[in-house]
Amino acid sequence: MSTSEVVAGTRALAARASDGLSATRTAPTPSWGPPFFGQVFGAWRDPIGTMMSGMLDHGDVMFFRFGPFKYFVLSDPAAIKHVLTDNAKNYVKSRNYQGLRILFGQGLLTSEGDFWKRQRRLAQPAFHRERLAGLARSMASETRRMLDRWRAEGTERACAHAEMMRLTFAIVGRTLFSTDVDGDSSAIGEALTVGLHWTNDYAESLVRIPPWVPTPANLEFRRAQKTLDDLVYRIIAERKRSGELGDDLLGMLMAATDETGNERMDDKQLRDEVLTLVLAGHETTANLLAFTFHMLSLHPEWDRRVAEEARAVLGDREPTFEDMPKLKIARLVLEETMRLYPPVWTFERQALADDVVLGYALPKDAIVGISPYALHRNPKLWDNPEGFDPERFLPERSEGRSKYAYLPFGGGPRTCIGNNFAMTEALIILSMVAREHRLTRAPGHRLVLDPAVTLRPKEGIAVTIGPRA
Ligand code: HEM
Repeated sequence: MSTSEVVAGTRALAARASDGLSATRTAPTPSWGPPFFGQVFGAWRDPIGTMMSGMLDHGDVMFFRFGPFKYFVLSDPAAIKHVLTDNAKNYVKSRNYQGLRILFGQGLLTSEGDFWKRQRRLAQPAFHRERLAGLARSMASETRRMLDRWRAEGTERACAHAEMMRLTFAIVGRTLFSTDVDGDSSAIGEALTVGLHWTNDYAESLVRIPPWVPTPANLEFRRAQKTLDDLVYRIIAERKRSGELGDDLLGMLMAATDETGNERMDDKQLRDEVLTLVLAGHETTANLLAFTFHMLSLHPEWDRRVAEEARAVLGDREPTFEDMPKLKIARLVLEETMRLYPPVWTFERQALADDVVLGYALPKDAIVGISPYALHRNPKLWDNPEGFDPERFLPERSEGRSKYAYLPFGGGPRTCIGNNFAMTEALIILSMVAREHRLTRAPGHRLVLDPAVTLRPKEGIAVTIGPRA
């Protein structure tokens, strides 16, 4: 789906919504019979469009049945707050995370209950503000490495998404595992793409073929999994060989013991956490930055303002953690880009017991879908939802907006552990790039969205990179 198609489609739908069609709370269920198959097919072919039209046509709590599964989609901040926070104990990640569990095992993203709580407690200190100050230096030096390479290689035409994937991957390796992974980046990028698409297809399949059955897709998936495992087990083995655990995230996880003080995580559990953080920690931020460069190329006045701010705040030196609050324009631009293109465009929960949400009965086992993409374009919550207007995030214009209207990092106890890490990293990269270079949309480039586990630009972001005058 191209951006213009999304925009045109949602504009038309928003107009219909403002006619009052979405105001009905009595019939939030799409019709049955043949249209149902149309919806299922539509959801498979165009998940974003289906989510948007569902919200605009059927209201903020939509229900449909898919075979034996009951599925609710929430686009109302109060309903979302209820599920993510107020009654969070009643919800786990949905059965559709099974594919991700096959890939990531019992890592932070996919584990549950006391086990998840313990892992979260162990990992949390690695993301504290004081540590981010030190990590900011590594983020800036990896960005400098990229900018030096751009200068040396020349970059007439490049893919901003591929560049950002490579950079954020190097930053995760350096900051969380103190490892140089630059040479592995393209093989890992490909393996992650295969792995994530496989998990997506697996989640959407009516009949789930286990990964050990040697279908062509499963064989490709297993090869990708081996590439990822080889990298992660190599990082763990190198650390063990060195005899020093170190004080980075991996060191903390390796040193952590259970309640008895005796048992440490085995290599498999370490592998699950490392792989989770490699994925969660680099692809999302890379997508955000790639969409940001795309938006700046479409909005030259914002491009200029970001560059001017970077020069005024940083001068010729590299950014530090203390500069972050001063990069206000860059932050507004990132926030607005994440509103329009949230890297985690949808996530799900499953009810453990019957519940009531905004007066609607939500039965045990029902799946609850929350789509930041649709929520962030809900015309009831946002003026001019399709427009690029970073100043809507100024404090004076944010007053009265529910924090559950804007969920790029999720909400409640399972909120993103890396949100401050991601914002620090994105601010550093954006300000350093904008200070020195201008990324211009390459002729013929169009944005095509790929809504898999994360929201990616399907055909990349083709740009020309030139020095900024
Ligand atoms: C722009 C960048 C990012 C975005 C948009 C993002 C978004 C999200 C969202 C929406 C969730 C919640 C999913 C749910 O509730 O089902 C999440 C969870 C998570 N994120 Fe992020 N994330 C980003 C960057 C990062 C980074 C940099 C890291 C680590 C270095 C990270 C690690 C995690 C982990 C481990 C979880 C699972 C937390 C838990 O369940 O305890 N993320 N992220």
